[in-house]
Amino acid sequence: MDGIKRDWNASLSNGIELNADRSPALAGLSFTGKVKGGLWSRHNLFFTLANNLNGMSKMGNIESAAAELGGLRLPQDLEPLEVAGQGSRSITFRANYRGDILAMKVYKPDAIKQFKKKHNKNIAVSEMSRNRAFRKIPELLPFIAKPIAVMGHDGKSTLMFLQEFIDGVPLKELAERNKGLPDSVLEAGETIVRNAELNELYELDLSMDDVLVRKQAGVWTPVLHDFNHVPKVEKPSNSFFARAFKGSAEKKSKRDYQLLEQWRAYSQKCSQ
Ligand SMILES: Nc1ncnc2c1ncn2[C@@H]1O[C@H](COP(=O)(O)OP(=O)(O)O)[C@@H](O)[C@H]1O
Ligand SMILES: [Mg+2]
Repeated sequence: MDGIKRDWNASLSNGIELNADRSPALAGLSFTGKVKGGLWSRHNLFFTLANNLNGMSKMGNIESAAAELGGLRLPQDLEPLEVAGQGSRSITFRANYRGDILAMKVYKPDAIKQFKKKHNKNIAVSEMSRNRAFRKIPELLPFIAKPIAVMGHDGKSTLMFLQEFIDGVPLKELAERNKGLPDSVLEAGETIVRNAELNELYELDLSMDDVLVRKQAGVWTPVLHDFNHVPKVEKPSNSFFARAFKGSAEKKSKRDYQLLEQWRAYSQKCSQ
């Protein structure tokens, strides 16, 4: 925190601008500069920060995340509350949207460009549509985060995907803490892969760091939230993959069953 001075400019969609000048030399975080009203002044940012150390670090995280994303332009009724996590392509915030808590997944500028170049699609629109394809399978409802909306594809705000917020722990962490995964999680994993396969959806994001597990009605339940992977088997990117995956559904699901096997192996390891 020593001597760092960073500007964070967040333009809200109604034209309200926040210029926050972070001066850690003044014992923490202080915001000087113009706050013309709207979102931030409504919540009296200064006093929130001064009175709440926890809030201060969360706001600090939001600030650095915003800087990493090249700035955040948000609609007035969407307020980031804290950084929930980071992936290779995005940063996700826990956010308040019109009084509801949800996940606000904001894409890194490079990831947006690369996705467009490789797949000729908008990453947020593509992620939402794959998320919806999984949500359409009734057997998978408990295991798939609910997609809500894409914002910013019209350029009015930063490009983002709003999704149900999953209040859970990474699967890997649960295995470690619990000395093995509960049977309910391993059984759900089977259900997820089998039903995806039956519906011709493959290459799920089942890596142990990405899947969140939450307690629902007293039962540990894994929930998938990451849907921006474009499967090679659904849209072969070249003739090699086209030939390789021409075969049966069994072959196409191979990778998914392998990842599931990793859940089992890690669970076993943690239980010893
Ligand atoms: N819907 C959500 N609810 C809660 N946390 C989330 C949600 N989506 C993402 N996260 C957090 O953000 C991290 C990165 O998200 P992820 O979807 O894996 O991003 P990427 O597409 O960049 O890989 C996750 O590991 C998790 O901690
Ligand atoms: Mg991920």
